[in-house]
Amino acid sequence: MAEVTMDKLVSLCKRRGFVYQSSEVYGGLTGAWDYGPLGVELKNNVERFWWKEMTQLHDNIVGLDAAIMMHPRTWEASGHVENFSDPLVDCRNCKSRFRADQIDLEAACPVCGEKGTFTEPRDFNLMFSTYMGAVKSEDNIVYLRPETAQGIFVNFKNVVQTSRVKVPFGIAQVGKAFRNEITTKNFIFRTLEFEQMEMQFFVKPGTDQEWFEYWKKERIEYYEKLGVRKDRLRFHQHGPDELAHYAKDAFDIEFQFPMGWQELEGIHSRTDFDLSRHAEYSGKDFSYLDDQSKERYVPYVIETSAGLTRSVLMVLSDAYDEQVLEDGETRTVMHFHPLVAPVTVAVLPLVKKDGIAELAKDIEKDLREDYATFYDQSGAIGRRYRRQDEIGTPFCITIDYDTKEDNTVTIRYRDSMEQERVPVAELSAKIREEIKNYRRV
Ligand code: GAP
Repeated sequence: MAEVTMDKLVSLCKRRGFVYQSSEVYGGLTGAWDYGPLGVELKNNVERFWWKEMTQLHDNIVGLDAAIMMHPRTWEASGHVENFSDPLVDCRNCKSRFRADQIDLEAACPVCGEKGTFTEPRDFNLMFSTYMGAVKSEDNIVYLRPETAQGIFVNFKNVVQTSRVKVPFGIAQVGKAFRNEITTKNFIFRTLEFEQMEMQFFVKPGTDQEWFEYWKKERIEYYEKLGVRKDRLRFHQHGPDELAHYAKDAFDIEFQFPMGWQELEGIHSRTDFDLSRHAEYSGKDFSYLDDQSKERYVPYVIETSAGLTRSVLMVLSDAYDEQVLEDGETRTVMHFHPLVAPVTVAVLPLVKKDGIAELAKDIEKDLREDYATFYDQSGAIGRRYRRQDEIGTPFCITIDYDTKEDNTVTIRYRDSMEQERVPVAELSAKIREEIKNYRRV
């Protein structure tokens, strides 16, 4: 396995249209990125994989899509106005700004090299705010949500009253979140605008520890299903100084990114903190009546909170490989799970003449109904395979003169590079079977 560096990933992502820097023509905007034609497919596929896992494959989780802007009281109740801040210091000499918990305050400034120039740490709230309406006044302030979770909490009663869920149950949501992060290096790892995939699971108080363990197990297994190598994943339990203001207990699932082990997802035991605070701040009732036991209580919450854009970086990092082939050439290959690969099947006629290209186009049109396909007839076949390897296409289909005779095609597997002859009539079913049984070699 070749070493995966961030430079290699950034370069491949730009070259092949996965991720571009935001507003690059104006010199770029730090901490913001755009997803190109392949990147948006990859991101959508990762989102779909998560959504299916959390909603379709669990019979007690329903979905929600709440607004990004919420009533400002939401963020007072949630504790974000008061607590969602990082301690910052400035260098008095060069005016650079740092997170106090990420540098040695006794050492020299990493930018200008001067010693003893740091200001005292002060709290800096990470929420972006703006004003609603024509008047810029404190009364009109609104925040861009720093997490999707609060949209779920404030809708707890709506969901209970309008869908037939019973505790224990969950509400899942995917959407944008915004944080005015000071340190935004490492590509799409930590950005100002990002997407989260969050699920709040409402349980009876006293059963929260058991559900916390359940979700830890479910979530680590999810990454293995997604094809992530096991030895790249680990748990990290938060110490008392790391716990967020709402958390009783928290575990991160960490992934070994090119820059080291870092958080991918948080699993948090949030008690009744959020529902009780919203009850207090809104004056509304957030309790739940168990219609069997007739008990009334405010549910406790187990939260699973994953970054979608950060998951894309994880998938890219885990997939990247360079292999030296027998002819001495190096192939760059992305071992994406076929369910998230931007292109599932590439259709490649070996020659263009004698009706072979037309035949290939017909086959590609049929496959389009079921799979993300790509048709390519230009260049030597080896070059075409390399192009597909580099964007992680798991299956390449070649059409040749024999296809005209016996109605079979060659299917070439990205990971093993092995080839197999398959009847055209069985092609779609064969690919479906291969996807179902996919294991990274
Ligand atoms: N609702 C709980 C919550 O938001 P968090 O640990 O602050 O918890 C959850 O965030 C996940 O969101 C993280 O594990 C990470 O994957 C993602 N995330 C957080 N901040 C991010 C940022 N600035 N850029 C990209 N992803 C981020």
